Amino acid sequence: MMKDMIIDNIIVLRSPYFLFVLVLLSLFLLKHPILPAPSKRQQLTMGVNQTMSTSIVLMAALVYVHLSSSTATGNDACASEGNDTDMSVIPIYGNCSPFKTYSSSWENTIMNMAAKDPLRVQYLSSLVKTRGRKRAPTAPIASGQAFNIGNYVLRLNLGTPPQLFFMVLDTSTDEAWVPCTGCTGCPSTATYSPQASTTYAGSVPCFAPRCGQVRGALPCPSTGSNACTFNQSYAGSTFSATLVQDSLKLATDSLPSYAFGCVNSVSGGSFPAQGLLGLGRGPLSLLSQSWSRYSGVFSYCLPSFKSYYFSGSLKLGPTGQPRRIRTTPLLRNPRRPSLYYVNLTGVTVGRVRVPLQTELLAFDPNRGSGTIIDSGTVITRFVEPVYNAIRDEFRNQVKGPFVSIGAFDTCFVKSYEKLAPLIKFRFTGLDLTLPYENSLIHSSNGFVACLAMAAAPNNVNSVLNVIANYQQQNLRILFDTVNNKVGIARELCN
Ligand SMILES: *[C@@H]1O[C@H](CO)[C@@H](O)[C@H](O)[C@H]1NC(C)=O
Ligand SMILES: *[C@@H]1O[C@H](CO)[C@@H](O)[C@H](O)[C@H]1NC(C)=O
Ligand SMILES: *[C@@H]1O[C@H](CO)[C@@H](O)[C@H](O)[C@H]1NC(C)=O
Repeated sequence: MMKDMIIDNIIVLRSPYFLFVLVLLSLFLLKHPILPAPSKRQQLTMGVNQTMSTSIVLMAALVYVHLSSSTATGNDACASEGNDTDMSVIPIYGNCSPFKTYSSSWENTIMNMAAKDPLRVQYLSSLVKTRGRKRAPTAPIASGQAFNIGNYVLRLNLGTPPQLFFMVLDTSTDEAWVPCTGCTGCPSTATYSPQASTTYAGSVPCFAPRCGQVRGALPCPSTGSNACTFNQSYAGSTFSATLVQDSLKLATDSLPSYAFGCVNSVSGGSFPAQGLLGLGRGPLSLLSQSWSRYSGVFSYCLPSFKSYYFSGSLKLGPTGQPRRIRTTPLLRNPRRPSLYYVNLTGVTVGRVRVPLQTELLAFDPNRGSGTIIDSGTVITRFVEPVYNAIRDEFRNQVKGPFVSIGAFDTCFVKSYEKLAPLIKFRFTGLDLTLPYENSLIHSSNGFVACLAMAAAPNNVNSVLNVIANYQQQNLRILFDTVNNKVGIARELCN
């Protein structure tokens, strides 16, 4: 078990950022030559008996890998692209993202991002399959609201010679799209130019079966261009795109004739400035289009929100995935084919199994209810009665007084943090005990801690429970759509 984790960490930390980690770890080791034995709490959280010796082996392994690879490291730390099956997942506001911010503390950034979750939940709730060529579904939008444009980006190249884009990683969307040359209303100057690419394979014809698989495909015009076009809404914007084909380069791997949207016009709200890569389960997603290469398997590890300088990783295909990992069945909802549903059967707070009505957790394809794992929502959202029951039990154990800050309604003086119970999500066949880092958030002044979860926004009549980013930090989440399994394991990915 521990051996697997060490191997994994080395692969993941191959990126040059890890020089920085290494310096920190070395400093730490110099200051504390003997690592303290893990507390009871940490042992519970890690789920493994992390001994001093394995920690030292890990450090030694890191030092070795760094030394053996340091000569190959270039000057641009952010240019690391991983290898064919393993690429960096960059926090959107992190150092290596073109969208980085300098002003806000990470806590404030999360508060601001979480404030945009309602729109995300609305989007997820709107993802009911449209049969045939219906009009693009449009989610109702609260005007003047700030919009969530995704939290992690991937460096990808389109065409030949390569055109670089930092695309949002979204596990609940199928299609990929980028702003196209000549786009009206696109926020970025980084646009894809089909004319500049020798591997551009033209637009997908409107009558091609593939066009019928796009969400929001428009009816074929009787005259003029026969290109496949579609309109979609996303993050408070609506956009119009043409489905085109060109090579997509992921790290060092290249997928020829990848079908993606070339965005011609955008209106309203904000928009993922350099596009989006859909990692959903539906027909036009990366998984479906790369089936012969990656066999419907991928995993990611999202870095801690605190780690401005670090990136996590996306591993595509069955090779290099953790071999021993606890799993829970992956459920398929034919009416919402993009979403990754799992069976959440209960939640434990401390030693208490929170009494929850089973129908509020139950997977029901017709109503769309159940629990999904999503890469685009910031904090986990439960349907209101479920959240209230969890929160009440949590409050009961921490005692108070409690105040609300932004999306968080259970904030308390940080010195009571030692009373905070561990929270465990119970899935079929898999219990996930959240590390404190994934269940509590601190205010930027550091005096207040909050339970980092919330109820589904009340303007969205959502039946969906969403396991979100904050709760997934430093976990490897493996999606195996062939064997219908989701695996979860602790991994230090930054
Ligand atoms: C699609 O979007 C374009 C551009 O925003 C708009 O002109 C057109 O009316 C839309 N079509 C439909 C069917 O919504
Ligand atoms: C690429 O990554 C995979 C999986 O992480 C690993 O098994 C493989 O050895 C790596 N290849 C190279 C050339 O670094
Ligand atoms: C989810 O788990 C519950 C409790 O074990 C079980 O009754 C139910 O059938 C499961 N649902 C699915 C869709 O597997």
